[in-house]
Amino acid sequence: MALKKANILVVDDDYDMLELIQRQLKEQNFHSFKAPSAIEAINILKYNAVDLVITDLQMPGIGGMELIKYCEEHFPDIAKLVITGYPSVDGALKAMKSGAVDYLVKPFTAEELRNSVEKSLPKKSLISENKKSQGPQTNVYAGIVGQSEKIEQLVDIIERVKNNRATILIQGESGTGKELVARAIHYKGSFAANPFIAVNCGAIPEELLESELFGYRKGAFTGANENRQGFFQAAAGGTIFLDEIGTASTTVQTRLLRVLQEKEVRRIGEQKAEKIELRVVAATNSDLFQMVKEGHFREDLYYRLNVVQITTPPLRERKNDIPLLAQNFLQKYRSEYGKSQIKLSDKALAILQRHSWPGNVRELENVIQRAIIMGEDTIEIKHLPNYLKYPIPASNSALKSLGEVEKEYILKVLARVDNNITRAAQILQIDRKTLRRKLK
Ligand SMILES: Nc1ncnc2c1ncn2[C@@H]1O[C@H](COP(=O)(O)OP(=O)(O)OP(=O)(O)O)[C@@H](O)[C@H]1O
Ligand SMILES: [Mg+2]
Repeated sequence: MALKKANILVVDDDYDMLELIQRQLKEQNFHSFKAPSAIEAINILKYNAVDLVITDLQMPGIGGMELIKYCEEHFPDIAKLVITGYPSVDGALKAMKSGAVDYLVKPFTAEELRNSVEKSLPKKSLISENKKSQGPQTNVYAGIVGQSEKIEQLVDIIERVKNNRATILIQGESGTGKELVARAIHYKGSFAANPFIAVNCGAIPEELLESELFGYRKGAFTGANENRQGFFQAAAGGTIFLDEIGTASTTVQTRLLRVLQEKEVRRIGEQKAEKIELRVVAATNSDLFQMVKEGHFREDLYYRLNVVQITTPPLRERKNDIPLLAQNFLQKYRSEYGKSQIKLSDKALAILQRHSWPGNVRELENVIQRAIIMGEDTIEIKHLPNYLKYPIPASNSALKSLGEVEKEYILKVLARVDNNITRAAQILQIDRKTLRRKLK
């Protein structure tokens, strides 16, 4: 199902609550922004088309009531929904008077949240976006190939966030296109003319990362012979893409938090900070939330980064995109290898569709590339790597029959010896004829 049209902003100083509400909204097909404070909420409101604000009342600093008033004055069209603990039901009533449509008392169920949201939202924003009415549908969006629902939703979110500076966290397995998505956000958006700077935090030695990111002043440390700008200054006005953010050291995490909070960068060895306007997109393939729980990643930084959360789907969850992707890579590489006519056989495609692709799109791209090199005018099964032809079944705790175990083991040996029957028979200590019979 396509995402609903409405954009919802959730404001609560309780991180768990934020996470919970966002999850429930996601299950109901809503896209949401999160803000851990009213200040942050106002920042998001300035740059995004928000239809509904769901806010807690009691928050340190500016409270929910004041936020509602602010919305009334500056964004009168935005619907408001107040969440509150028992002691502040009174406050909720006051909030209703000042413009909030509804209030929810904690704890509430997903169902109650849904009802309140639907009651609060202007009716038109509940309708799912109708893609077909937007002209011809293409299967490629800024290099992102796919026509599955998962990809449609991904593109939908990119469309909603591309023109603002809200910080984005992209999570997904390796090879699912996180960097591709980060670039799409930048190059489709209104700051596309400004720089896009990608920094792989995992590839830069820890002791260098800080100075590379933030720059330094001459004499800040031994070897700092000149003033240098960092990636942040270089990306001013555009987007900085912080890849593998989970690997950033505590020092870098602390500095990053400051940049996001204060919207300013201070070079190492410099007293004064410079104001900076840019969009931060971070990506990770580790479970950052888990890292927070284990104390390996700053919780406050996690929530600062995670204003918009984008998850790139693993390929196995959108297998119907495999033919399209395969065709796309065929087209991309065949002229490069001087085989402009090469095709993919149906049988080979069937094998590709059966595989579970732990390396995701990158793995598929490599397989196609290799097959083009190996193949003549058609890519056949024999041009695919063995591990695809003889998949090792996922380990299953259920006990197996001797026959099943035998079959699995034979396939494993075959894969290991590149499908060489003679070698496999030697290892299995049976003759080739027996092996052939078993294979049948
Ligand atoms: N939807 C897609 N359509 C076309 N190509 C894709 C898609 N997703 C990924 N790719 C391609 O797969 C390769 C890996 O993508 P990318 O580098 O963006 O993945 P990643 O999620 O950043 O992986 P990692 O976590 O390993 O860095 C790239 O060559 C990219 O162009
Ligand atoms: Mg990457």
